[in-house]
Amino acid sequence: MAELEILKVPDERLKRASEPVLLFDQALRDFIDDLEETRQAGPGAVGIAAPQVGWFQCIIIIDLSNTRKPVPNHGRMVLINPEIIHWEGYEMGREGCLSVPDYTGNVIRATRVSVKAQDPAGGELEYEMEGFEARALQHELDHLDGMLFIDRVVSRRTDLFRRKVYRKGGKRKG
Ligand code: NI
Repeated sequence: MAELEILKVPDERLKRASEPVLLFDQALRDFIDDLEETRQAGPGAVGIAAPQVGWFQCIIIIDLSNTRKPVPNHGRMVLINPEIIHWEGYEMGREGCLSVPDYTGNVIRATRVSVKAQDPAGGELEYEMEGFEARALQHELDHLDGMLFIDRVVSRRTDLFRRKVYRKGGKRKG
């Protein structure tokens, strides 16, 4: 296993769309192990998407089981070729991202979603999610389309917030 380098804004590769996974082989599972190790190394990262480490396939990992304030969740999910098949409701909430280390932002997302995906062996998965877990899923799905939460804030002036604590190695802007 190896921790991978996270692409950060303004890296243009974060805008690239990912391709579906067609081959469910050992190389895929090895990559997923590395992606999980990278997620765990990120401070408080509840999710990660393959393109954030420069691997442009539709793979995301979500795990809200260790959040500070417990929220309803399904534990760790590795979702290959995920697709939202149902949306319900809208709410505003705060998001952060390993690829946007200096800011958090308020983003409107669906409150409940149903998602269809495949597991690392190619089997079919389906989950219903709500609240923060549904938000994390929508955030990670955006990465597969080359989109970041900063592209979704209504106003960059009022809905983006500079992080108070600068992490070691984080670049300070402005
Ligand atoms: Ni992100």
